[in-house]
Amino acid sequence: MADKLHHQYVLMHKNVSVADLELDTASGSISAVGSVHDDAHVPVGISVKKGKIDRATLNEWWQGRAIPASRDGIRHALMELNVATTQQLLDKCLGLSLSDQYWICPHNSGIEWRNVNFFDNTFSDDIGNILLGKGSSSNKISLMSPDNTSDGWLKKKWAILDGKRCLIKGGSGATQQEPYNEVLASRIMDRLSIPHAAYTLMLQEDYPYSVCEDFITPQTELIPAWYIMHTRQKPNHVSVYQHYIDCCKTLGIPGVRNSLDRMMVLDYIIANEDRHQTNFGAVRNAETLEWVGTAPIFDSGSSLWFSKPQAFISPLYKSAVQALQS
Ligand SMILES: Nc1ncnc2c1ncn2[C@@H]1O[C@H](COP(=O)(O)OP(=O)(O)OP(=O)(O)O)[C@@H](O)[C@H]1O
Ligand SMILES: [Mg+2]
Repeated sequence: MADKLHHQYVLMHKNVSVADLELDTASGSISAVGSVHDDAHVPVGISVKKGKIDRATLNEWWQGRAIPASRDGIRHALMELNVATTQQLLDKCLGLSLSDQYWICPHNSGIEWRNVNFFDNTFSDDIGNILLGKGSSSNKISLMSPDNTSDGWLKKKWAILDGKRCLIKGGSGATQQEPYNEVLASRIMDRLSIPHAAYTLMLQEDYPYSVCEDFITPQTELIPAWYIMHTRQKPNHVSVYQHYIDCCKTLGIPGVRNSLDRMMVLDYIIANEDRHQTNFGAVRNAETLEWVGTAPIFDSGSSLWFSKPQAFISPLYKSAVQALQS
């Protein structure tokens, strides 16, 4: 059904056509999935049964590319952009990201990946500045930005610094501790020789930000653990840890147990509270689909008691409370 409310696209993986799609322009969701052109390039964790992609799971994946509704300051940003949901921003940047190589190509548009991808082409600062709460400098806001497809709840923006794509990420609450923690975690991982995204500190208008370089290249992509875990069903008696290792083994991802164990040691040392299944994963070649290995450790800032008042951090806290209660 091609009408004003439904637009036809091809789901693309760099230059490979994966499947025909129809988007509902009002909600930004996938209203129909057509023929599959290339099974092997269907996103990891999305099942194809009898030549058909399951629309519900593809929609979860697609909508999961949007900025989460829980992003700090998102209501204000959406008001400024005059859109109701973050999903409505997805097609404005063709779903392109700086963490993977999927995108949507409007049917018969002739648009090519090399002319639109954010690795090789510049992008606007407008969305990023609005997301950071700085407003936009231009009258006409450009929506062509990888910030429309960035995950996570902290305020952030992608920027090109010295020709390198970098993620600039803020802190939360009164203490704004996360950027400092990212840098500390980076230093600890330097000493322990744990492969990681290197974070540095940037201060702007008295606010701290962490800066890290994109560890994805035009040839590679990050696949979060969440999708790797969905490549097969987890039997009830198998732990999440073991299930992840089993899925990685079946897919042929090398070095997983070792890097998972190093990650857990780091998280123990820094008391990380947020190592959820989209905060680690694996990297593969987006063309050959060969797995490169586990992703460098990133997003370790929600740690070191970042949201706790100082008194709660004291090793004497529990005994002090008990003494008061007795
Ligand atoms: N250096 C990087 N290179 C490529 N992709 C990255 C990089 N850093 C982060 N990402 C992608 O951006 C997403 C959001 O970044 P990050 O997890 O650091 O943000 P966050 O707001 O702290 O997230 P959370 O909600 O888990 O606290 C990540 O899940 C990952 O997909
Ligand atoms: Mg995260």
